[in-house]
Amino acid sequence: MSYEPVLLRRSAGAAPGAPPVGIGAYRDDGGYEGLAKALTMAPAEIIEEVKASGLRGRGGAGFPAGVKWSFIPKESDKPKYLVCNADESEPGTFKDRLLIETDPHQLLEGCAICCYAVGAPVCYIYIRGEYVRQAEILESAIREAYQAGVLGESVLGKGFKLDMRVHRGAGAYICGEETGMLESLEGRRGQPRVKPPFPAIIGAFGAPTVINNVETLCNVPHIIQRGADWFAGIGTDERNTGPKLYCISGHVEKPGVYEFPIGASLDTLLEAAGGMLAGRALKAFIPGGASAALLPADKSHLPMDFDNLAKAGSMLGSAAVVVMDETTCLVRSVYRLAKFFAHESCGQCTPCREGTNWSQLVLGRIEKGHGRPGDAELLVRMTANMSGTALCALADACVGPVRSLAQNFRPEIEEHINSGRCPLPYRRVFEETA
Ligand SMILES: Cc1cc2nc3c(=O)[nH]c(=O)nc-3n(C[C@H](O)[C@H](O)[C@H](O)COP(=O)(O)O)c2cc1C
Repeated sequence: MSYEPVLLRRSAGAAPGAPPVGIGAYRDDGGYEGLAKALTMAPAEIIEEVKASGLRGRGGAGFPAGVKWSFIPKESDKPKYLVCNADESEPGTFKDRLLIETDPHQLLEGCAICCYAVGAPVCYIYIRGEYVRQAEILESAIREAYQAGVLGESVLGKGFKLDMRVHRGAGAYICGEETGMLESLEGRRGQPRVKPPFPAIIGAFGAPTVINNVETLCNVPHIIQRGADWFAGIGTDERNTGPKLYCISGHVEKPGVYEFPIGASLDTLLEAAGGMLAGRALKAFIPGGASAALLPADKSHLPMDFDNLAKAGSMLGSAAVVVMDETTCLVRSVYRLAKFFAHESCGQCTPCREGTNWSQLVLGRIEKGHGRPGDAELLVRMTANMSGTALCALADACVGPVRSLAQNFRPEIEEHINSGRCPLPYRRVFEETA
C-alpha cells in the first residue's frame, strides 16, 4: 500500500536515538502554520473543524475529540486546563514515545491549538516516570517555544497567553486513566475518581479540563492546516478517519511503529513489518494493546479501526498490535497479562481488586498443570462480574484478554487441564518468567 506519512512525516527514516526535530527545522517545514491559522479563527470554528474531521481519541476509548472540546463550559470564570496524556502505559504501546522523541513541536502545536480553542491558558503534559529522555526532550522543546514567542505572554504575538509544563508521573498504569492522572497531577495517589462529574466540568484543580492523548493532539495541526475534509477523506469511513500509528510487536521480523490510514489490516502491517518472525505461522493477535480481546489468525484481513474491531469482539484501543505465532502458549501469555493487571489495580473497587487477582490465580494454575474441569467457565463467570462494575475501565481491561481466551481459544485451556501440563513442545521454563 502506498501511503505518505503525516504524523511521522518529519521523522520517518531517522536513525534510532537521532536528535528530535528542532524548532527551526519544524518551522522550515511548515510547522506552527496550523497554530498561526488557528489564531485567526474563532475558537468555536476550530472546535467545529475538529468535529467535522471525525478525529477520535487515540488513547484508547476513541471518543470524538471535537465533541469533547465542546463540553468545556464557555461562560465559566474558572481557569481551564488541557492535560495531555503521555502516560503511555498500555503494554505493547510505544507510539507516543516516538512522536515525542522525534517531533516534539508537533505535539506542542496540537496542544496550543486545543488550548486556544477551549480557552485554556495552561497545559500540562503528564508523562510516565520511565520516559526520562522523552520528558527532557519535551522540556527542551518547550524552552525553545518560549524563546521563539510560540508560548508565553502572547502566542505568536496574537495576545493569547499560554503556559506549558511537563509533569512526570512515578510509573503506574492507573495514572494513564484520566481521573487517576488528575489525582496524581494534583499530588495525590493515582486513584480514579467517581464519574460524573467528568473532567470537562470538574477536572484538574476543580476546573474544566480537556484530556487528550499525545497522538490525538498531534493530528490537530494537520486538520487545521489542511482542513477537516482532507482528514475525513483518510480511513475506512466517516466514523473512522485520519492517519493512525500502529505499534507492532511480538513475532514479526521488524517490530516498530507504522503509520497507515486508520483501518489497515494485520496483513498489511505484517507486510510492512517484514512478515512473521522466521516465517512461522500466525496463531493469534491482540489488535489494541493488553486490554483488547485476542483474535484468531483468520481475522488478519479485518480493517483495524474502531468499529470493525468492536464488531469482531475486540477493540482498536491504543493500536498496539501484538503478534503471536504457533509457538506461543496463549494461556501463559494471558496469565502474564492478568498478572500485570492484578499488579496495577489500584485496589479501590472490589470487582477489580479481586477479579484481576483471581484471573491470575486461575490462569496460573491452569498453565502450571493444576487446572480443574470447569475453569474455563469459571473465567467467563468471573469476567462477567468484573465488567462495568468498577469506577474505571482497568477491570474491563483485564476482562478483554481473559474472556477472549476462555471463549475463542477454549480448546487450548482444555488441553492444559486434560494433560496436566502446557501441551506446547516449545514451552520455555515457566517458573523463569512467571
Ligand atoms: C487503566 C487505564 C489506563 C489508561 N492509560 C492510558 C494511557 O496510558 N494513555 C492514554 O492516552 N490514555 C489512557 N487511558 C485512556 C484515558 O483514560 C483517556 O480516555 C484518554 O487519555 C483520553 O484521550 P483521547 O480521547 O485523546 O484518547 C487509560 C484508561 C484506563 C482505564
